[in-house]
Amino acid sequence: MTILRSPSEMRAWADEQHRAGRTIGFAPTMGALHEGHASLMRAAAEQNDVSVVSIFVNPTQFAPNEDLDKYPRTFEADCALAESIGMDVVYAPTARAMYPEGYATYVNVERVTQRLCGASRPTFFRGVGTVVTKLFNAVRPDRAYFGQKDAQQAAVIRRMTRDLDLGIEIVEMPIVREPDGLAMSSRNRYLDAEERSRALCLSQALAAAQGLLEAGERDAARIVEAVRQGMAEVDIDYVELVDAETIERVARVEGTVLLAVAAQVGPARLIDNIKFTA
Ligand code: PAF
Repeated sequence: MTILRSPSEMRAWADEQHRAGRTIGFAPTMGALHEGHASLMRAAAEQNDVSVVSIFVNPTQFAPNEDLDKYPRTFEADCALAESIGMDVVYAPTARAMYPEGYATYVNVERVTQRLCGASRPTFFRGVGTVVTKLFNAVRPDRAYFGQKDAQQAAVIRRMTRDLDLGIEIVEMPIVREPDGLAMSSRNRYLDAEERSRALCLSQALAAAQGLLEAGERDAARIVEAVRQGMAEVDIDYVELVDAETIERVARVEGTVLLAVAAQVGPARLIDNIKFTA
């Protein structure tokens, strides 16, 4: 496994693979890898000739009051996991290589970024759109793998990839959960035992909503209210039922919808969701 540190090195490697007729699978991450990331890497390795994982804690997607400085960094363990899965490259550019002096270009995806995390973190998706475009330009993947846990992010990347004619297949992988249902997240390690136990109400409230949906409930307000009641123990940021592609609020469940929640639990901002097709 090779570790590459700059966009030019990464692109030279990717160009060589394409010249040899090999497909490239790509799992973009910010490191602190867990089983959720492992599922992205395994799919990238299995479905493509060669595979790349990026590890880059992207400063442009953190607001000044957020956890950029204390975001967990576990590079050695991340590389060991990537190698055990059979990844060919870890792409770990420096912040200076990604955003050199004078950097001034950003990618803004409209509408689909307005609600949910875009409402509470107004600069987040501008940072994500920018860094993912730059990563795509260096890695030149045929397929890129994103987790459903960040379902709005996946919808934003699909929109951006279509709008900018990037010609990359975006694959969304299912949420990976702890045995008790908590969605895996690098930020779970911020939780102490009491917070960890309260955090369970997110996945439990969503599981109860899944039951309502399966029983035929189609009224969005009733479903959202039931989830809110189930999350009484945490500080709710949002509970929203939206169209899974446009991220526009819906009044009734029709087609494929996303029921998404975000909450502050102690020091961690946690998100979770389910998708349902009526
Ligand atoms: O989902 C993440 O880990 C990040 O938002 C991403 C896509 C790697 C961009 O920094």
